[in-house]
Amino acid sequence: MQRISSLAGTSPRRYEPGGVSAGTERSRVRPPTQAFSLVAQDMARAEGQLTELLGSRLDDVRGVAHYLAAAGGKRVRPLLTALGARAVGVGGDLSRLMCVGEVIHLGSLLHDDVVDDASTRRGRDAAQHVYGNALVILTGDYCLAQGVLIASEHGGHACVSRLAEAVKDMAEGEVLQLQRAGDLGTTMDEYLEVIDRKSAALIAWCASAGALILDDEALVGRMERFGRAVGVAFQVTDDILDYGGVEAVTGKALGADLKDRKLTLPLLIAMKELPELRERLDAGPPTDEELPELLALVRGTGALERSADYARGLVEEGIEELSVLPPSPHREALASLARYLVERVS
Ligand code: IPE
Ligand code: IPE
Ligand code: MG
Ligand code: MG
Repeated sequence: MQRISSLAGTSPRRYEPGGVSAGTERSRVRPPTQAFSLVAQDMARAEGQLTELLGSRLDDVRGVAHYLAAAGGKRVRPLLTALGARAVGVGGDLSRLMCVGEVIHLGSLLHDDVVDDASTRRGRDAAQHVYGNALVILTGDYCLAQGVLIASEHGGHACVSRLAEAVKDMAEGEVLQLQRAGDLGTTMDEYLEVIDRKSAALIAWCASAGALILDDEALVGRMERFGRAVGVAFQVTDDILDYGGVEAVTGKALGADLKDRKLTLPLLIAMKELPELRERLDAGPPTDEELPELLALVRGTGALERSADYARGLVEEGIEELSVLPPSPHREALASLARYLVERVS
């Protein structure tokens, strides 16, 4: 169970450690191992299904999909799907349903790495550097369609249509982000809109998939709001890790957001503290040589700690939504997983 243990923090792949360990409490939070063991069987089954579901009859498509899937990843979306479904009382084999979020996520990562011109993903060369843009984009499309198809096996109309809405949100969120890159006047609300769409929409679907199957609208609302809060906090954390303020082991190149002048929360906060940083970025994107110094400047403002506090607050709001669920180990596990996701270092 490499995936679970990777999120559990036992032996994550090491890639260009963040360089600076701020020694904040983030790196000291222990992973919620009980949450993993509760659904360990579901996770093992889902892992087997995932390989099969990415098995296009075309070698090229299968090759790209397996290249990314086999490279690692935390498997957060299958885990949230399993815990969310069990917490609302869904029984039976969840393995294919759990794959929906991961397969869609894989498609979005393939597309995102082309859009962002990323160098590495999950500790490997980003797929387009190995297979080329065309094959990677088309395999991304294959993954998105496959995810929606699997969802249609399990849920009713709402389950599928809400997933399709999430996929639309993801595409639009990425476009909005592209349009706003380099716009130093971007507001907090505009930032939140981007991350709500590009990341939280899918995470919210995963958390609410079980409730969608039960066709319980009130429960769907609760799980959706929980998932959205966790999803936004998850992306804020990803944006913090891009600055490497903790011992980040993300498998992605550090400083990619700053290089593209993406107005993420750490940068929004840092620019308020340091007007000269804004002036510097106004002049144009940082060069590779300037990047380490600018990253350190942002870290020095305390923006990473303040961003993390914001994410923690969101998670606590999200957890309140779970109060209507009957007490269960799965409900507790959802809460502890959510808290862990904003303290992770990978
Ligand atoms: C990366 O997601 C993209 C974001 C939405 C932040 P993950 O951090 O879940 O990536 P993997 O699956 O573990 O590689
Ligand atoms: C993209 O956000 C999230 C997706 C929906 C793929 P990022 O661009 O921040 O994700 P990473 O950092 O490349 O994983
Ligand atoms: Mg990216
Ligand atoms: Mg990122």
